[in-house]
Amino acid sequence: MTSVPNEFDPADIALKSGVEVQMYQTEHALKDPMRSVLEDNPEIYFVPPKRKHEWGQWEFKSGAYYDTTRGAKHPYWCNEDLPRPSKNIDRLRSDLLRWGYCMVEQALTETQVAIIHQRVIEQAEGERLAGIAQRTPSGQNINCCVNKGRCFEGLIEQDPAVVQGGPLIEQLVTEALGPNWISTSLIASIALEGGVPQALHQDQDIALDSKSPLTVNLLTTITDIDENNGGTLVIPGSHLTLSESLRANKPVGKLPPAINLDANAGTVIITDGRLLHSTGINHTQTPRVVMLNGMQHPLLRQQENWMLSVRPEVLKRASPKLLQRMGYQATNAAQTNEGHGFGARGLIDEAAGSTVDFRLAADQGNYLRVGELSPNSDRQTLEAEFTLKAVVAKARAGGRSAPVGIGGIKLNP
Ligand SMILES: [Fe+2]
Repeated sequence: MTSVPNEFDPADIALKSGVEVQMYQTEHALKDPMRSVLEDNPEIYFVPPKRKHEWGQWEFKSGAYYDTTRGAKHPYWCNEDLPRPSKNIDRLRSDLLRWGYCMVEQALTETQVAIIHQRVIEQAEGERLAGIAQRTPSGQNINCCVNKGRCFEGLIEQDPAVVQGGPLIEQLVTEALGPNWISTSLIASIALEGGVPQALHQDQDIALDSKSPLTVNLLTTITDIDENNGGTLVIPGSHLTLSESLRANKPVGKLPPAINLDANAGTVIITDGRLLHSTGINHTQTPRVVMLNGMQHPLLRQQENWMLSVRPEVLKRASPKLLQRMGYQATNAAQTNEGHGFGARGLIDEAAGSTVDFRLAADQGNYLRVGELSPNSDRQTLEAEFTLKAVVAKARAGGRSAPVGIGGIKLNP
């Protein structure tokens, strides 16, 4: 037996891989601008206070990022033309570009808000009673909402029956992220009295120097939000500041102060994934509810593992659009399943890229995957009812514009 070449020995590799010779070390080091943020902004305390049960009493640090108010009342910001709720698409575009967020006014009707509000409050209580509530420093989160009410399916789809402003929101998200964007998760964020603020952060913590956002968050206000009840904290314009300093390889410099967002229930706030933001402090006894529905470029890994987590009955009734948004629509570049989906361009090739049947087969214990095959495989193995064959056959039968060679595997020609 020949010995393994020395160059493949981990000890030899380590010997030749000191930090000074590694590739891209400067670029990787630059991915985290927070050290520079803290050095340049000592008065902005980016670490939230401890949980309340660890305090003697309410504990504020004067000048901390959460010691603030809404933009219109803030001495630093009150004369700036900050985003305000609007239905004007040009205004929304310019707000998102300039300030890193925009606010879609009356994106939900009062009735649409009431339906979601009731479902969130009931689910939160149910999860507490079941002993599975996710407590957060700010209050409580409800995860994987798609399994927990029909209204949430429509929220992910931006179905006008659930979000009357859905078409306008989708246009803006498509302009920001490009086509075929997907949802990373849908979470109900409930800020409760006694909670502490979240640390300021960027949702898009990779590729910070991207020239356009790779993620956006849709914050749907289900209660009114303001500086009293935990209205989300943001530093307007910070989506550009950090990216530009990274690109220029220079310190971030002094950041402006954070503000609380204020908006009526039913507003959808679209935030650029590079914007510094966090949940604020709820000083009231009424829960503050915001739905967090992140959307992202389809090449990024999702927060929610929709492939495993979505209930079968939800998958069975889901529209192609909802399936696509959760990642069950392969494209040439992402989420192909045993090759099914190569060549598909998204929803326009729906049948050619739909992967939900693999998951449903797995649920039933019937998913037969293609394994090792060879000229020596017996007839039974070669003729097995691979799930891939059934999915490809279905795609071809119903395939609207199914590309030739779908699946990347030649089936019986
Ligand atoms: Fe966030």
